[in-house]
Amino acid sequence: MSALPQTEPDRIDRDALIARRRRFLSPSLRTFPMFPDDPLVLVRGEGAHVFDETGRRYLDGTAQNVCISLGFGHPVTMRMARQAMDAMQHCTSLFFHDAPARYAEELVARMPEGGDWVVHLVNSGAEAIDLAYAMARMHTGHFEMVSLRNAYHGLHFGASGSAAFSSCRMPTAAMQGFVHTMHPDQYKGAFGPDAGIEPYLAELERTIFSSTSGRIAGMIVEPIQGFGGVVPMPPGYIARAFEIVRAAGGLCIVDEVQTGFGRMGSHYWGFEAHGATPDIVVLGKGMGNGFPIAGVIARREIAESFTKVRFFNTFGGNPVAVAAARSVLQVIDDEDLQENAHARGEQLLAGLSTLQARHPLIGDVRGSGLILGIEVVKDRGTREPAVEAGDRIQKRLRAAGFINVKGSATRNCFRINPPMCVTAPDCDDWLDAFDRALAAER
Ligand SMILES: Cc1ncc(COP(=O)(O)O)c(C=O)c1O
Repeated sequence: MSALPQTEPDRIDRDALIARRRRFLSPSLRTFPMFPDDPLVLVRGEGAHVFDETGRRYLDGTAQNVCISLGFGHPVTMRMARQAMDAMQHCTSLFFHDAPARYAEELVARMPEGGDWVVHLVNSGAEAIDLAYAMARMHTGHFEMVSLRNAYHGLHFGASGSAAFSSCRMPTAAMQGFVHTMHPDQYKGAFGPDAGIEPYLAELERTIFSSTSGRIAGMIVEPIQGFGGVVPMPPGYIARAFEIVRAAGGLCIVDEVQTGFGRMGSHYWGFEAHGATPDIVVLGKGMGNGFPIAGVIARREIAESFTKVRFFNTFGGNPVAVAAARSVLQVIDDEDLQENAHARGEQLLAGLSTLQARHPLIGDVRGSGLILGIEVVKDRGTREPAVEAGDRIQKRLRAAGFINVKGSATRNCFRINPPMCVTAPDCDDWLDAFDRALAAER
């Protein structure tokens, strides 16, 4: 047998690795645009930290795109996934296997009572989103779906139709039947600062009246728009929007791909913070603590309507991914990670409010738990994005051992989403580094 390919940190030839990726992986595969000339090569993760090829440690403020919920290398994830791997590395859902059924039972136990919820397992958020749209259409017999401006739901055929960023839309026939309505952004929304929810609800009604047949398949909402720059739905919006959607014959879909599994600190699911119960919930990212698994939870009657067509997903419910996903449910409870997300979020918000008093660059701080956003602006009155200053701050943070991405259409919102095991000293260190990186702009 030939020797295993060498990947140990001390054997990594950084330049060769970068050249190999650029030569053999498609140029269309995006990298984080933050360090184009000096990419970050990662070789190892531990808890909330990652390590580059030199052994340098960074606090991962991205949780690898919000996928690492419990932490890198969590022993329970590793043990459960290894056991599943040793027993049987794949079992298609055409057969019966213990793991997906147990996992579905455990997930349903975390949903609001009385829903008769059932679970579908797939491999990525966008797959789950496409499935949710198809189910809503099959169940209602209606076609049009409403999504919010500034929304991101993935890049598959249907998902990209509902995304509201030009960069996510291709000059091909997009999936038809998506209309966008204004997102109720209270910082820089279309109806002005702190406009409340009424103008946005009226706009939703106008959108359904003017851009659909009046009978819709549903509406999809992220409780906090993540990719769009951490824009929380204001109190009352989701519940009232759902009333409007139901009156138009539609189903209410919540995209919990970023907000689910306790990351918001205050609640296990984002929709719970809004006193609204959806008909369909879409899950992904942190669901598997880094293992590829995503899902759709729907009321039984909706899932039953979908039995009229063939639903099959080759890898959906893979026992290794499901074992990792079961570890997430277990460890969030055992280690009080939702409470940690809440406490660390409060710590960061308090620290950021002190920094905001000292640094005029901080225009807005928002979010909940460990899904926080900081908007950097040139002027607090005009709210003009400070994109270049943000880029420099990001580089200084990296030099200090902290990885953070910026999001939003205007690229000036730092997204703070570390793994949910992040500690109080980690957060203090990050606040100090952010303070210094901002001070250097003076
Ligand atoms: C809110 C939300 N929904 C759906 C998706 C799509 O997930 P995936 O990239 O796993 O297809 C993403 C990905 O960033 C997301 O942030």
